[in-house]
Amino acid sequence: MTNQVAKITVLSGDYIGPEIMKAGLAVLKAVSQDQFHYQIDEHPFGGAGIDQFGVPLPDETLSSAKQSDAVLLAAIGGPKWDDAPNRPEKGLLQIRQELNLFANIRPTSIRAAMQRYSPIKQVEPVNFVIVRELTSGIYFGKPREIDDTHAIDTMRYTVEEIRRVARVAFEMAMKRKRHVTMVDKANVLATSNLWRRVVAEVAADFPEVHYDTSYVDAAAMKIISAPEQFDVILTENMFGDILSDEAAEITGSLGTIPSMSRGTDGPALYEPIHGSAPDIAGKGIANPLSMINSVAMMLAHTFDRSDLADQISQSVDAVIDSGTVTPDLGGNATTNQVTNAIIQQIYERRHNYVENDVR
Ligand code: IPM
Ligand code: MG
Repeated sequence: MTNQVAKITVLSGDYIGPEIMKAGLAVLKAVSQDQFHYQIDEHPFGGAGIDQFGVPLPDETLSSAKQSDAVLLAAIGGPKWDDAPNRPEKGLLQIRQELNLFANIRPTSIRAAMQRYSPIKQVEPVNFVIVRELTSGIYFGKPREIDDTHAIDTMRYTVEEIRRVARVAFEMAMKRKRHVTMVDKANVLATSNLWRRVVAEVAADFPEVHYDTSYVDAAAMKIISAPEQFDVILTENMFGDILSDEAAEITGSLGTIPSMSRGTDGPALYEPIHGSAPDIAGKGIANPLSMINSVAMMLAHTFDRSDLADQISQSVDAVIDSGTVTPDLGGNATTNQVTNAIIQQIYERRHNYVENDVR
């Protein structure tokens, strides 16, 4: 990718979405100068798509995403579209399916800089990642219906859908602490029993990886009581939705956590795991860290530029350490102040690096 111009589709979305996207793009620009060449194609998505084109995922937005190397998404949805026939969230499910983004990767780490913000008193450092199946299960299964007297949702999985996401989890574990925990409800659900069977087969291909399983209720408890025990958590769509918010919360704020959704080939999508926070939109106080961390994750994973991603992460840590944080982390800095402080750090680090190089 080094000599090419990277194509990035930008979907700012709704409420705080554009505010944090602006921050993410400013940091991307700062870290990229002369180092990384990219071009941005911005499109309406979610509520913004409904307002401009009547649908949450307009055709042009989808075709831009399909032609890109990576998609950066901020956040969508909100009360304005609660009664829309096609809600903004539908656009999210649709783009996941259209781009075949079957694996959603959500890291949870409590780095030294964040330790004092965590609501739990942990002894050991926490660093695990949730690999959530993203394009099947109860979010997509048919039949799905509702009338005056009943409603049905369907949790359905095929062997292949389980196998491909399980491989992502085990491959990831090989680069980490070599431990996969599959979370399910095998004491009740048929789909979970299929997961057990298929994941055990995949596990056999990775003998170096320690493989165990946990029921979802117990896993929810362990995320609070013993989060240091996890390395890679592999789970189905809805359990992953719930557990990833819980996991994010133990880091001190949902507002810092990025995520990556990927398929086998084609663009990956990077986004904060939180929503569009209508209650604080327009106040200039949204935490930009989740978006900035999403930019770092994109640089590392799609563009193979861990060097630039590290510059962002180190700058983010330095700024958290300095106490320049938004109200969700107990500070009183604005979105812009946090963003500018990070950009300042990036410049200072680069300047020092160049000076040291010359000497
Ligand atoms: C997430 C969100 C979405 C999901 C919603 C907005 C549809 O909660 O990305 O976790 O449930 O997948
Ligand atoms: Mg969620």
